[in-house]
Amino acid sequence: MSDLTRDASASDPILRIEEVYTNIAQYHILRGVNLDVPRGGVTMLLGRNGVGKTTTLRSVIGHWRAHKGRILFDGEDITEMPTASIARSGLGFVPEDMGIFADLTVEENMVLAAVSGPIDAARLDWVFEAFPPLKTFWKSEAGNLSGGQKQMLSIARAMIEERKLYMIDEPTKGLAPAIISTMAHSLKDLKNQGASILMVEQNFAVAKALGDTANVMDNGRLIWSGEMAELASDEALQERLMGLSMEAH
Ligand SMILES: Nc1ncnc2c1ncn2[C@@H]1O[C@H](COP(=O)(O)OP(=O)(O)OP(=O)(O)O)[C@@H](O)[C@H]1O
Ligand SMILES: [Mg+2]
Repeated sequence: MSDLTRDASASDPILRIEEVYTNIAQYHILRGVNLDVPRGGVTMLLGRNGVGKTTTLRSVIGHWRAHKGRILFDGEDITEMPTASIARSGLGFVPEDMGIFADLTVEENMVLAAVSGPIDAARLDWVFEAFPPLKTFWKSEAGNLSGGQKQMLSIARAMIEERKLYMIDEPTKGLAPAIISTMAHSLKDLKNQGASILMVEQNFAVAKALGDTANVMDNGRLIWSGEMAELASDEALQERLMGLSMEAH
């Protein structure tokens, strides 16, 4: 339990989820989630389909409201904070359904994502380097991009400003293998810049390559936390925690 009288310090987690319960309609979806995301590196949130991974991220950003428990972001209690304020305080969220504006151009999508002011030119160059198609299609409507390019735009929207934490829900979902490796490479680049990332990923090869720590959910709770390398090296453990829902590795 954290000491509220103390300021957030470098050793505190960037995100702390304390005993969070979230209901959707009459369903008890999260049933006491406890999760710490350290500063720097990639924290993986894993688990079978429908166990509450997306609901956990959505509870943090305030799309769903935790009805019990507490969420601290960089030492500040954000449990009741409006979503826009949470985003402005430095939390970049890339939703599972991508959350881009199909009728707007790539440029307009990026301008809207830069919530604290005009786009920084050097940072935009870095984003273009990570995702070259966004430069090519800068003036095109986002709705005309391919699935992989839409996913790039979705992640680029989070990357266009420095965030204290990036929460990314299944960045490789539905992408062709060639695009998956481009995506993994770009995310690794973001990680290597010192970013703190909380990521849901069903592709175990990608999870293994990017993750530092792993957290496995089942039935609305965390059932295992540890080093990603430990989980990656133990197939019996993977089978027990996640069954066959993970993709082949
Ligand atoms: N809008 C909603 N209305 C009703 N039930 C919902 C809604 N959204 C999610 N659920 C239910 O909440 C549970 C957890 O869903 P969630 O999307 O968090 O799972 P997940 O772990 O992200 O799964 P996946 O791996 O399939 O993305 C599921 O049983 C789902 O059916
Ligand atoms: Mg999900």
